Amino acid sequence: MNETVGVSPTGDGAPARPQPHPVLASSDGDPGDGGPIAVPDHTRAPIAGSAPTASVMTGTGSGADWLARYSSSLLGVFGTPQRVLVRGAGCLVWDADGKEYLDLLGGIAVNALGHAHPFVTSVISSQLATLGHVSNFFTSPTQIALAEKLLDISKAPAGSKVFFANSGTEAIEAAFKLARRNSGSEAQPRTKIIALEGAFHGRTMGALALTSKEAYRAPFAPLPGGVVHVPFGDIDALRAAIDDTTAAVFLEPIQGEAGVRPLPAGYLRAAREATSAAGALLILDEVQTGIGRTGKWLASEDAGIVPDAVTLAKGLGGGFPIGALLTFGPEVSALLSAGQHGTTFGGNPVATAAALATLHVLENQQVLGHVREVGEHLRTGLAGIDGVTEVRGEGLLIGFDLDADVAAAVVTAGLDAGFIVNSPGPHTIRLAPPLILTAAQADRFLAALPALLQTAKDAQ
Ligand SMILES: Cc1ncc(COP(=O)(O)O)c(C=O)c1O
Repeated sequence: MNETVGVSPTGDGAPARPQPHPVLASSDGDPGDGGPIAVPDHTRAPIAGSAPTASVMTGTGSGADWLARYSSSLLGVFGTPQRVLVRGAGCLVWDADGKEYLDLLGGIAVNALGHAHPFVTSVISSQLATLGHVSNFFTSPTQIALAEKLLDISKAPAGSKVFFANSGTEAIEAAFKLARRNSGSEAQPRTKIIALEGAFHGRTMGALALTSKEAYRAPFAPLPGGVVHVPFGDIDALRAAIDDTTAAVFLEPIQGEAGVRPLPAGYLRAAREATSAAGALLILDEVQTGIGRTGKWLASEDAGIVPDAVTLAKGLGGGFPIGALLTFGPEVSALLSAGQHGTTFGGNPVATAAALATLHVLENQQVLGHVREVGEHLRTGLAGIDGVTEVRGEGLLIGFDLDADVAAAVVTAGLDAGFIVNSPGPHTIRLAPPLILTAAQADRFLAALPALLQTAKDAQ
């Protein structure tokens, strides 16, 4: 793949040229295909006062000023933000003080096509200018087209369906409710749900019950009941836990938050066999690993299994919030019926248009092959660096361990040197860059890493 694929041709974040909308351009007679759109007069009325967005969106003010305002206005759940970011283009972002960074985290596996991608930007704008939101009493072409596309790329069997949410945790909540609906009989109720140690499935109450980290869970007890966690990667432990009271097993093909830990080969297949035999659902959480992140549409696609459900979010909207639950086959898809679940924003026309645009670019520009190549290049380079003890992951979801507990200091040294990386553990660094990261950009990080490690160690 050439170096500029998918990156803003201007490279400076300038407004994108209008592009045809992938759904609307092909729908006859729709105003989206270029005709003038009649707008009511009040939309042309002057807006009194100075627009609050003018200084906010251009980021006028120093990073320190913004952080002072942040700490007095935002809930402290995220701690102190590392930087105030004001602009992005491709794999680069800039902070409020004008400093440039190579973004090797991509909003934690979200900015699949980097920042300010011209095609995604123009599709979102065009959809917003055409039909921005409808209630779920109605539907829209982009919602339907995206559902069809997701079923297609996930090779879902006939009778499969999609539910749209707005985030990963909401996709998991929908999956949790799906699992509860696999309720067994009065004589033999299914109340047990199994997840893995190290699992991260989100922060809302149902998702938190599936998430294993005690520090996240303990302050919010009691969590929804019936969830047990079994040791990661131990198929015998999973088999032993599954019985005829089991409603579902939730698995991430690669545990991202736990430091990019792939399940061992054969695990998904064995899990499928054990869940099928017991009548339990197998639900794969591909919120972080799905939509090209591993160089495949789904990280699980090589396992040769058909799961009962898959959750997606993060990269799906190319930076626009959207989540999805895919239910596989007619029986599982019938578990949730009219009125049993819902959301105001889920399947919103703009979000689904953003996702369609993202999928269109990923497919059209052969980005998945590029992800496999650059990912391999990056992993090989990392493995050769002194102080890196293990490299894990697939495609552009990469975790590597260090020979000392200096990961947090590496993140800081990286920021100072113009690189955004993340430390999911004391000696682990995670990379989840835009899928359009070039080999040259990967090399820039590889060349800088030895010095970052040294700086981090010197700071201890
Ligand atoms: C595997 C997995 N599931 C669920 C979630 C929750 O997604 P969100 O943060 O969009 O709620 C995450 C987020 O990191 C995740 O990695």
